[in-house]
Amino acid sequence: MLDRSSNRRIFLQRTSAASVGLLLPAFGLALPQKPLPHKDNEGDKGKDEENDKISPAEDLMREHGVLNRILLIYDEHLRLLTAKQTFDGSVLASAADIIRRFIEEYHEKLEEDFLFPRFRKAGKLVSLVDTLLAQHKAGRELTAQIRELASTATLKYVSDTEKLADALRAFLRMYRPHEAREDTVLFPAFRSVVSPHEYDGLGEDFEKKEDELFGEDGFFKVVDQVAGLEKRLGIFELAQFTPR
Ligand SMILES: [Fe+2]
Ligand SMILES: [Fe+2]
Repeated sequence: MLDRSSNRRIFLQRTSAASVGLLLPAFGLALPQKPLPHKDNEGDKGKDEENDKISPAEDLMREHGVLNRILLIYDEHLRLLTAKQTFDGSVLASAADIIRRFIEEYHEKLEEDFLFPRFRKAGKLVSLVDTLLAQHKAGRELTAQIRELASTATLKYVSDTEKLADALRAFLRMYRPHEAREDTVLFPAFRSVVSPHEYDGLGEDFEKKEDELFGEDGFFKVVDQVAGLEKRLGIFELAQFTPR
């Protein structure tokens, strides 16, 4: 039977609900209707127009780039948990919120509403689509667990940290092959199940939906949010990963 005495209290630094709350709404607040210019796009109207014309596959693949950066944040938390090091749970909670709002409620919804039905109708890659859909559902359950356990107030015991580590491991284990299969099999095949005209139109539809949900240039704001979390975690500087 689990002894929940103080010597079992562990790694995760207690952060108040208020401190978590301060960060989480920031995700929403950082996606205003009237966006600030992204630093890389300042005064570069041509580039903005170019961004509006990306293809559906490019749009979905750069969203996988955001997913990958969150997976790195999850990797780092798993490393901290394994090493029994303390950390601020609000970073992980915010990362899980970005997964929920940007990946599950936006990116995966695009796949489910615009890609999967067209593959089913064409009778192509149906088994793959079934698996991808089941994995979206499983991912949402894992995100709910990660989000809840990262909220620190409940993460006081060894059993909770083990549950959190298991959920992070399961999420990482599933999403790396999931997105790799979409990038290399599903997205390249998408052109074969729609007309060129429909393909181009969907690129515009995706961008319109992104603007509706996250404001103009919303993708770059989400990238900035992820970079902010990486900085708090100490994994932002890319050069640190170059072998010496
Ligand atoms: Fe997917
Ligand atoms: Fe995807």
